[in-house]
Amino acid sequence: KKLVLLISGRGSNLQSILRACQTGQIIDTKIAAVISNRAAAPGLVVAQAAGIPTEVIDHRAFPSRAEFDIALQQQIDQYAPDLVVLAGFMRQLTDAFVEHYPGRLVNIHPSLLPAFPGLHTHARAIAQGVCWHGASVHFVIPELDAGPVIIQAAVPVHTSDDPAKLGARVLAAEHEIYPQALSALLSGRCKLEEGRVYWSDPI
Ligand code: GRF
Repeated sequence: KKLVLLISGRGSNLQSILRACQTGQIIDTKIAAVISNRAAAPGLVVAQAAGIPTEVIDHRAFPSRAEFDIALQQQIDQYAPDLVVLAGFMRQLTDAFVEHYPGRLVNIHPSLLPAFPGLHTHARAIAQGVCWHGASVHFVIPELDAGPVIIQAAVPVHTSDDPAKLGARVLAAEHEIYPQALSALLSGRCKLEEGRVYWSDPI
């Protein structure tokens, strides 16, 4: 099986997924390519060090979001991936792009969706005074951070937390659940049917 990962930055989720492919937590799967919209994304170096092909498609070189997304789609489709994995990809995607990958486009979001879609989730969770925060892996639909949830991890919010401390706790959980979700999707243990997620056995 093949994955294409889309990134914009650090690439720590890319690293956790790569490790899972290497150790066999995700079986018979390789990362066919990593595509970034930012040439300076540190995650590109992580991919290159592992011998994974990388591409940069700079959104600023395109007159519109639609044209960027078409270029991105063409690049992705050259690799014929089973799943397209958003791993810290910080661009909103057009409906046409999302609809081109039904059941094949997944994202990780740093909150317990449907709480806190969008940006600055850790600061917002602290400001809201919630006791639990976390991360969600979900299928992507045109509405932002709103697709069917595949797996979530919760972490406690401490009174001494600031966004960085809480974010680090959430990130550690992200690194657990993204490989778990991908492994289950690729093995068929987890399926999307008529817009709902089904697991054939417990995690
Ligand atoms: C993660 O917090 C992820 O949930 C969000 O962007 C961040 C990406 O981090 N979508 P990294 O680039 O994987 O380290």
